[in-house]
Amino acid sequence: MSFYPRLPLVALALVFLHAAYAQPPILQGTKSGEQVYKTVCVACHDSGVAHAPKFGDRAAWAPLIAEGQHVLTGHAWVGVRAMPARGGSAELTLADFARAVAYMARGSGGNWKDPDSTLLLQIVKEADKRLVTSIKEQQAMQRELHNLTKTAK
Ligand code: HEC
Repeated sequence: MSFYPRLPLVALALVFLHAAYAQPPILQGTKSGEQVYKTVCVACHDSGVAHAPKFGDRAAWAPLIAEGQHVLTGHAWVGVRAMPARGGSAELTLADFARAVAYMARGSGGNWKDPDSTLLLQIVKEADKRLVTSIKEQQAMQRELHNLTKTAK
């Protein structure tokens, strides 16, 4: 049997191999933590504007690192006070953002690795919890406003 009749089989095997080794969607992203830091986060975390923990400031980062990687990354992703959600960059993926947090932690006394898909899933859960809390807070504010307009009538 010549090689050629087997080509469809070879193609099929390649499709399966690709599916097995392709990055799961949660790991998608193309930038290293250092690249993201130097293009996005540096704007505030280099100078420490509005109390942003400065890159390399071990004292500022120690309590943050102690929170745990999934907790800190999840909270920072949805935004914390003057820290904008996604670091203010709408096109940043969660994986790229999480690598930037790990890079900042490594440069500030921590030993965090770039997160794998298991850790990223934990980060997603933590960010989701935070969002639910802030949505409830906003709904309470909305109810307060609606009550104001009712009593104004
Ligand atoms: C516009 C300014 C700004 C940019 C840009 C910015 N940050 Fe921040 N970030 C802050 C400030 C301010 C805080 C401190 C918030 C506080 O604790 O009140 C902060 C806090 C954090 C924290 C600690 C969060 C916590 O729970 O205390 C992390 C982690 C963080 N930033 C990561 C990043 C990463 C990663 C990027 C880039 C993708 C980024 N930041 C971009 C301003 C910024």
